[in-house]
Amino acid sequence: FRQGPLAGVRVLLTAGPTREPLDPVRFIGNRSSGKMGFALANAFVQAGAQVELVAGPVALETPSGVRRVDVETAAEMEQAVMDRVADCDIFVGCAAVADYRPDVVADQKIKKSQDRMEIRLVRNADILASVAGLPEAPFTVGFAAETQDPEGYAEKKRVAKRVDMIAANLVGAEQGGFERDENALTLLWDGGRERLPMADKSRLAKQLVSLIAGHYEKRDSA
Ligand code: PMT
Repeated sequence: FRQGPLAGVRVLLTAGPTREPLDPVRFIGNRSSGKMGFALANAFVQAGAQVELVAGPVALETPSGVRRVDVETAAEMEQAVMDRVADCDIFVGCAAVADYRPDVVADQKIKKSQDRMEIRLVRNADILASVAGLPEAPFTVGFAAETQDPEGYAEKKRVAKRVDMIAANLVGAEQGGFERDENALTLLWDGGRERLPMADKSRLAKQLVSLIAGHYEKRDSA
């Protein structure tokens, strides 16, 4: 049995990108490397939690002590999360889930023909909002990846998705966010916020887990 502030607490977490296939050889993806989510999984284990990680396609080793489930598409990620969410106390959505997928996936490789082609996209389910909306929802933490005004947009997402906390980060800029080893986050909750300045993702993950643990304990004992 592990020791630490989250001893015995069950954490379910998502990390990495999703891939939405267009045909057998092509997909729509994004720049998430999984580094932030994997660092969080490791920090949760260090805090004593039992950690299950639903990972999109990434080139990272599973942190020691973490149970990992690999998925590819947003729909597979949703299924993997929904199959497991009843058995978790804390859910963290760190994955960069595609909001849309191609309406039709071609059976064979799409051939080059006209100069222009259109791809119709349809909305994917919002995994984070679905988890937070469950009648017996776990303590739910989301992320918000924004290219401008991260705290403003994150606050809107926190309220709209009804999550307990949301971590805002700037992406697409020179530093932090996707792919890099460093990131900066602002954690927002109802009535408060804390800025975590640019740091290595493993260090940032530790700070984030300690903040989440504090708020989880407060809610749990309320
Ligand atoms: O993986 P790295 O390279 O280390 O980069 C880390 C990161 C930038 C990917 C990470 O810090 C981060 O911000 N993750 C969330 C990325 C994202 O998709 O943000 P969003 O603002 O589009 O989504 C908001 C929240 O809703 C997220 O918790 C996301 O997991 C969730 N979501 C979004 C769409 C969807 N269909 N289902 C979801 O659950």
